Amino acid sequence: MQIHHTIAGLRAALKDAGKIAFAPTMGNLHEGHISLMQQARGHGDSVVSSIFVNRLQFRPNEDFDSYPRTFQADCEKLEAAGVDHLFAPNEAEMYPRPQAIHVIPAPALADILEGEFRPGFFTGVATVVMKLFQIVQPDVALFGKKDYQQLMVIRNMVQDLNLSIEIVGGDTVRAGDGLALSSRNGYLNEAERKEAPRLFETLTKVVAALSQGFCDFQALERDAAEELRNNHWAPDYVAIRKKSDLQLPAAHDSGLVILAAARLGSTRLIDNLEV
Ligand code: PAJ
Repeated sequence: MQIHHTIAGLRAALKDAGKIAFAPTMGNLHEGHISLMQQARGHGDSVVSSIFVNRLQFRPNEDFDSYPRTFQADCEKLEAAGVDHLFAPNEAEMYPRPQAIHVIPAPALADILEGEFRPGFFTGVATVVMKLFQIVQPDVALFGKKDYQQLMVIRNMVQDLNLSIEIVGGDTVRAGDGLALSSRNGYLNEAERKEAPRLFETLTKVVAALSQGFCDFQALERDAAEELRNNHWAPDYVAIRKKSDLQLPAAHDSGLVILAAARLGSTRLIDNLEV
């Protein structure tokens, strides 16, 4: 695997790379990331990944400084997964001056759910992903469904800005007990880690109720949030939405997804399940 710290170096190396499949990350890699790399293999001649902890998508009170940085171990995992090129820029390479132009996704999608609790988050994500797309010039790019709303924001960006990139969504990879793998799981202490699968279990119960035709969505959301609260979680939202645009469904709509974000101690976890 070739490691590139500069845009010029990466571009030179990708000149004859053929069809490029790209999966960007912020590092501290786990099996969820690695599954994207493995899927990427089937979509291109060259697999490119990136590691860049993007300051633009963190609020001042969030975990930018403490976000786990494990570059050596990450390189070994990417190498083993068959990644051909890793782009690992520093901040000066990506933001040599304060970013003046931003990609601002439509509020109807970007200011709800995650965007409501992390204002500006999706502008930070869309802006850095747009920059990475310009740098890497991929034919295909892969994103996890774990970050469901992020995947939708990227799909919208590609469509509205006429980018000639195919976006592929990868299924969420989970631990044996159901907990969605996440770099932030490392913040959990032992007791919290034991409790953490409840988020997935709660969503599973809602999906079961929906599958049986139960369609009082608000009651389902309320009960799910209540169950989390009763077990010392602080939910930001539990929301049943339409898969197509994440807006509120009508009573008998199908094509639903249930999304949740909740804090356990000081760790904020998100998860979702398609119905
Ligand atoms: P990061 O959180 O490192 O995630 C990188 C990619 O891995 C994203 O597409 C994410 O959805 C996917 N991923 C994370 N956990 C997963 C899991 N358990 N199963 C499957 N896929 C999973 O998401 C970001 O970084 C950043 O916002 C980024 C897109 C790189 C822009 O900075």
